[in-house]
Amino acid sequence: MKTHLSLSALVAVCLLSLASCGSQKATDPTEAKIDSLLTQMTLDEKIGQMNQLTGMGISDDMKQQIKEGKVGSILNEVDVNIINELQRVAVEESRLHIPLIFGRDVIHGYKTIFPIPLGQAASWNTQLAEEGARIAAQEAASVGIRWTFAPMVDVSRDPRWGRIAESCGEDPYMNAEFGAAMVRGFQGKNLSDKTSMAACAKHFAGYGASESGKDYNTTWIPETQLRDVYLPSFKAAVDAGVATFMCSFNDINGMPSSGNKHLNRDILRQEWQFDGMLVSDWGSIDQMISQGVCATPKEAAQKGLEAGVDMDMMGLSYISQLKNLVQEGTVSEKMIDESVRNILRLKFRLGLFDQPYTDVTKANDFYRPESLEAAKLAAIESAVLLKNNGILPLDNRYKTVAVVGPLADAALEQFGTWSFDAEPDRAITPLKAITDTYGKQYKIIGEPALTFSRDSNITHINQAVAAARKADVVLVFAGEEAILSGEAHCRADISLPGLQNELMTALKATGKPIVLVVMAGRPLTIEKQIAQSEAVLFAFHGGSMAGPALADLIFGKAVPSGKLPVTFPRMVGQVPVYYAHNNTGRPPSNIVTIDKIPVGVFQTSLGNTSFHLDAGDKPMYPFGYGLSYSTFEYSKVTLSSNKLNKDGKLTAQCTIKNTGRYDAKEVVQFYVRDLVASLSRPVRELKGFDKVFLKAGESKTVKFEIDASQLGFWHEDNTYYAEPGEFHIWISKDSQSGEPVTFKLLADNNKK
Ligand code: GLC
Repeated sequence: MKTHLSLSALVAVCLLSLASCGSQKATDPTEAKIDSLLTQMTLDEKIGQMNQLTGMGISDDMKQQIKEGKVGSILNEVDVNIINELQRVAVEESRLHIPLIFGRDVIHGYKTIFPIPLGQAASWNTQLAEEGARIAAQEAASVGIRWTFAPMVDVSRDPRWGRIAESCGEDPYMNAEFGAAMVRGFQGKNLSDKTSMAACAKHFAGYGASESGKDYNTTWIPETQLRDVYLPSFKAAVDAGVATFMCSFNDINGMPSSGNKHLNRDILRQEWQFDGMLVSDWGSIDQMISQGVCATPKEAAQKGLEAGVDMDMMGLSYISQLKNLVQEGTVSEKMIDESVRNILRLKFRLGLFDQPYTDVTKANDFYRPESLEAAKLAAIESAVLLKNNGILPLDNRYKTVAVVGPLADAALEQFGTWSFDAEPDRAITPLKAITDTYGKQYKIIGEPALTFSRDSNITHINQAVAAARKADVVLVFAGEEAILSGEAHCRADISLPGLQNELMTALKATGKPIVLVVMAGRPLTIEKQIAQSEAVLFAFHGGSMAGPALADLIFGKAVPSGKLPVTFPRMVGQVPVYYAHNNTGRPPSNIVTIDKIPVGVFQTSLGNTSFHLDAGDKPMYPFGYGLSYSTFEYSKVTLSSNKLNKDGKLTAQCTIKNTGRYDAKEVVQFYVRDLVASLSRPVRELKGFDKVFLKAGESKTVKFEIDASQLGFWHEDNTYYAEPGEFHIWISKDSQSGEPVTFKLLADNNKK
């Protein structure tokens, strides 16, 4: 929102805030402790704090480096006894007894694995995400891991990109809501609590825009789009109190994030007043040499420091170059002090100076029953029912059930990416869950057939076909192995790998009804396989309890309530395809697809609007789409007023009725559109959602409140405000449905 303060008032405000900030810092006992420690530290010891190494067990060399104060943090050490021993060296044998901080990628669970973040986002239930993060922190902190490199809050609109699995999808508001929930979960009520972990908002910033969906790739993001789309989820993490940030590998318009002063100092530190710690990504400071903005490790170290990167993750630039840079006067020790201050502040906030050790009697506290139950519920709510001709939930119409496909009994795969510490023997697969839970009511024939998602052994298909012939219905568990998504695992073809499509065709030929269950780390192009199926459940990678969750969904003990957090393309050539796009000068109409073009026609301006000849203008499924076993009716949306003052609020409401025969949850979505503005605006933008439980036949009125601050956007002069004019509002079941109602945002001086 744009407000106008007189210049003198502005100066007064700044002086007052500086004074208060200064006095606040001056009275904060932690700052005093940091000051005192800084005055005692040598330059070597300061630089040592900025150095993060990966754990390699206990080595004399590692202990020696710690003793000499050359290490500030270790990542990837997970043995509580090794962690305590390395900590003992730091605390008892180093000169200043500064504790280490131990970090790990605890992204969606430590031992009890929750659905991948993209799956959790499909639940549209931030409480589940918060609870999952809390459980992850409790388990990981029990071995001494007090810093996780999560949540990843990169808006991701490219399903080719492997890391979409780790994101909360394509929408800024959703990534903000889920990222903040995970920060709260990881950090708990008090960061110094022994079950808390410092969270890390990553990867700052714009990583999801990696060109062509290839990892680590360049990005071209105008500042207005950076601020409208890619930064809000990071700002939400700051507002949620996130303790750390991590740089992204990519460059933005040619500037690598690890050297981006504008991003890390102007925005993160100045505009957002972030006082946490900024860590590089793995070697991302050094990688500025390969990115062609630095010629030597010395230049890389200088650029990283000047850009405000406090800690060098496994880059070794800082530890090898910073001392020379200070001694030759190229960088000031004051800049080093600033980073060390941020690192020490984190360690004080975590309580590591007071309690540096982990209680081994409470270590390895994993798989609590309530944790497994929470993981199962998350997996249930993360599954999205894409199609159902009535075959689901299965009932006694079917006596014999064939359970086939490479993901039917693949514990490792259902964890999904970033599950370093998961234990396959502690996961329950769909085949096991179905057999154990429903094996008495139904005859279950288990025949995964394809032994992994890329299996190209044709004989395995025949085994599945044979099983199908003996059954009344075929459950096909298809998708991607975990390794086919995640960091550096990007795919140009996002169809089912291996012979899974051939498997589906062979099963279809048996004439038996097919229920397709997909486990994957991204949207897949499965239009044909959907057509071959009576029902399709998209479960992402559902984690430890994916099996019991899917079994309950398939047999009706649970009702699907997930909705897509990302658009599903019909074909990969449509990418990027996302709901919050601009309208273009020729929005799609008069669609003439390639099969409808008359032969021999002269070059004519066919549809002459924005669509693909061979794909049309629609995705396979839109953002926010998902079915239930029940049905829901939405009333017309009503507004508290059709006018909104710049400093006023407006309420929109809608009554949703469960018109089906199942008690069920429905994700009610709230969208707006700015019809005319100085820049072209998206055709819809998500501004709220509410997951409501409705008994069969029950109605509920859902309300959303809106004010001008949610209607603004970033202008080319780097100011954020809403422009007066007409807006549409929808309260709908997905990003394509519903009828809009209109209201007018009044100009400042127009109060009527
Ligand atoms: C990786 C990832 C980052 C992760 C870090 C530590 O390269 O980009 O997300 O936290 O290294 O494993």
